[in-house]
Amino acid sequence: KTLAIVGCPFSGGQAKLGVDRGPIHLVQAGLPEQLSELGWKVLFDGHHQFEEIDAASDPPIGKLKNPRLVSRVCEAIAKVVGEHAKKGQLPLTLGGDHSLAMGTISGTFEQYPDACVVWVDAHGDINTAETTDSGNIHGMPVSFLLGLGSKIPEFSWVKPLLKPERLVYIGLRDVDAGEKKILKENGIRAFSMHEVDKYGIGRVVEMALDHVNPKRDRPIHLSFDVDALDPSVAPSTGTPVRGGLTFREGHYICEAIYETGCLVALDIMEVNPSLADEAEVKQTVAVGCSLARSALGETLLGSPFAQTRAS
Ligand code: ARG
Ligand code: MN
Ligand code: MN
Ligand code: MN
Repeated sequence: KTLAIVGCPFSGGQAKLGVDRGPIHLVQAGLPEQLSELGWKVLFDGHHQFEEIDAASDPPIGKLKNPRLVSRVCEAIAKVVGEHAKKGQLPLTLGGDHSLAMGTISGTFEQYPDACVVWVDAHGDINTAETTDSGNIHGMPVSFLLGLGSKIPEFSWVKPLLKPERLVYIGLRDVDAGEKKILKENGIRAFSMHEVDKYGIGRVVEMALDHVNPKRDRPIHLSFDVDALDPSVAPSTGTPVRGGLTFREGHYICEAIYETGCLVALDIMEVNPSLADEAEVKQTVAVGCSLARSALGETLLGSPFAQTRAS
């Protein structure tokens, strides 16, 4: 079992400085070693270096900010993730802002056309070029993956390989009016915090998987935005929203997806170590690491997988 860490120090999908330092902190906190201890062969050859485009050569296209930069970085990440997947390795992408998922999910679909996506987030990230208020592309990757909204030549490399019925959300609580309309019109299943409160996280994950992966035979791409967690659990992030997942609810989602045996790619996104105080940064980075460990086989009572391998 080989895991490829794809470190993406990238912040061009939104305006706050510092989210590009997220992957650096996650690696410095020992994430590669922690994953080796779970029994993975971990590949990490340094964080990815992205070409730079100065702001003057990258004016907005419509409302979209840094469109050329985001497009090129995501295209590069799609290739990297796709190649790791092709070799049978599980790519773990560390963001960076969530626009990167346009790349990671494109890479997954390149290798696994029948995959499904579990998107854990406070936000829908499904604005189109038309509906976005902020112009920040980290609020839009899902619409690009679904092929919604007007076609922008700069993003023509993004193939609409994700189907609405292969996508499910967990944790939503800050969804823009235009996004609500898109979710409804496309019949996209979403479990907001209301459903988490109503049914409990166990039922929610079961219903979410029954929807996108009824026979538990499809490959799963888990894209986890740490702002899905309550700000008291993960304070160092660019767009915190109160009323989020508890520490355990977040980890339960990861554990349950690992248990399916279907996980083929994982994103841990939006850790921003320059927001909040030192203790809060440490806490958020630690949570990012433990979410990744839970999705990759760490259990609370010892891992049968690790024990079998050792014996
Ligand atoms: N809906 C807002 C927007 O379009 C916020 C998006 C936040 N996204 C994120 N990946 N944290 O700008
Ligand atoms: Mn690499
Ligand atoms: Mn979010
Ligand atoms: Mn997000």
